[in-house]
Amino acid sequence: MEAKDVSSAGDDTALESSRPRTFIKDIVRGVTEELVGRKVVVGGWVKTGREQGKGSFAFLELNDGSCLANLQVIVDAAVHPLTQLVPTGTCVLVEGELKKPPEGAKQSVELKVESVLEVGPVDPAEYPLPKTRLTLEFLRDFGHLRARTNTISAVARIRDELAYATHTFFRKNGFRYVHTPIITTSDCEGAGEMFQVTTLFSNAEKVEKELKQNPRPSETDIEAAKLLVKEKGETVSQLKSSKASKQEISASVSELTKAKESLSRLEERFKLKAGIPQKDGKIDYAKDFFGRQAFLTVSGQLQVETYACALGNVYTFGPTFRAEHSHTSRHLAEFWMVEPEIAFANLEDDMNYAESYVKFLCQWLLDNCIEDMEFMVKNFDKAAIERLKLVSSSPFERISYTKAVQLLKNVTDKKFENEVEWGIDLASEHERYLTEVLFKKPVIVYNYPKGIKAFYMKLNDDQKTVAAMDVLVPKVGELIGGSQREERLDVLVKRITDSGLPLEPYEWYLDLRRFGTVKHSGFGLGFERMILFATGIENIRDVIPFPRYPGRADL
Ligand code: 4AD
Ligand code: MG
Repeated sequence: MEAKDVSSAGDDTALESSRPRTFIKDIVRGVTEELVGRKVVVGGWVKTGREQGKGSFAFLELNDGSCLANLQVIVDAAVHPLTQLVPTGTCVLVEGELKKPPEGAKQSVELKVESVLEVGPVDPAEYPLPKTRLTLEFLRDFGHLRARTNTISAVARIRDELAYATHTFFRKNGFRYVHTPIITTSDCEGAGEMFQVTTLFSNAEKVEKELKQNPRPSETDIEAAKLLVKEKGETVSQLKSSKASKQEISASVSELTKAKESLSRLEERFKLKAGIPQKDGKIDYAKDFFGRQAFLTVSGQLQVETYACALGNVYTFGPTFRAEHSHTSRHLAEFWMVEPEIAFANLEDDMNYAESYVKFLCQWLLDNCIEDMEFMVKNFDKAAIERLKLVSSSPFERISYTKAVQLLKNVTDKKFENEVEWGIDLASEHERYLTEVLFKKPVIVYNYPKGIKAFYMKLNDDQKTVAAMDVLVPKVGELIGGSQREERLDVLVKRITDSGLPLEPYEWYLDLRRFGTVKHSGFGLGFERMILFATGIENIRDVIPFPRYPGRADL
């Protein structure tokens, strides 16, 4: 067969791709001698613009988000009306020549504009983000614009680097990336902090509205429709037995079909009921979208375990959801978690992976993101870079929960709000004291009392503790939670029932122990907590692009 000539396929509007744009990062980090004299197209948003020389030209500080630094751009009044270009927030795409600035200028290269290709204007009286320094709290009300600020764009680049570093680390170590479901019917942590996924409410509203506009048919309507079907049926049989013409028969068959369709529509509508479906005094989830109760996942762990029990080393990295009413600077209702799961690994192996992963992330930022990190040092946390250096180069402390409780009980220089007793869940103040004051570095606490940890953690021989571990870091407290998993079927069944959970939803999870069970371990790193730790930013709401917390889910 001959190939078709696609060029003459009929659409006469030829498409043309945009002119290649040079990123500002490649200009400001380039070698001045090589750049000077080059013609480039640059696009970005004006940070500051000022008219000079009695309005004969303007300086624009242009930022395109590729890096923290701006490019100084000079436009003559003859090239474009300057008042349209100078307001903060204006978008411009310009073409020009890179020049060496006059002696004494702080930048090493600037752009002399030859033509303004595109402008996205701003009315300065309306633009909500003026040039003045704005607080992060204020910026939370402008989720759609705040990425244009130095801080939020630096955080976005750091976040992106950490995500890339995560995939790099796991790939280097032979892990496969597995996408676990967002919608789930199993409660991983068993803590009952799940968001429900249901269409029952919207359906009920739809039905209610629909019934108002178009009331339910009565039984008489149904009877009449049934009668019509009967009559039409009889006509068809009569015509057939009297050997009527094909045309006549097919016309009456089509009338019969119409009558049947109309009956089934009426019967469907007759069943419509306003309100949430109920059965035995409870909500009838069999009528819900999935035919059962469903939730947003709190963790991909249980599902990723199924792949660990087949592919060996795997990880999942995705959004997780918790309907916790904690209004703290460390909790979100939607956050991202990195969860590796490792077959044939015990708790010690788990801790080793957790430690080398965190170290890898710290080193990655030092190697790939130093400019944004220096910005954090200048504006948020003087110790941020030092902390990355320290963490990437020195071993983490490892202590048992029992030892941690002993150490905390002996503390005399601080009064804790929550009293320390063996068996309590360590509070943030205890965790931070251990890592910030006592050890001044990351601390891994392991072997927690079974009563405060999830059912899937391996019961230790003492029958009192489980093979769990938390990685605590300065500034944040708990960064990672993980454990060796209980691989013994009988013990796991007992742990599920002892935790007051039903067995039925976990039958598939128990199958992993029934068929080819394997010792395995894993952990979850709170991705936003890692960013808090790296940047020194105080509130977790400022390190995720679109924060969700009680009362707020903008955009
Ligand atoms: O300790 P968590 O609850 O562990 C799990 O979910 C396990 N299933 C992980 C695993 O073994 N695969 O959560 C893990 C981490 C915490 O250490 C914390 O850093 C972060 O997730 N985290 C939160 N981050 C932000 N907002 C919240 N509400 C968080 N809850 C937990
Ligand atoms: Mg935890």
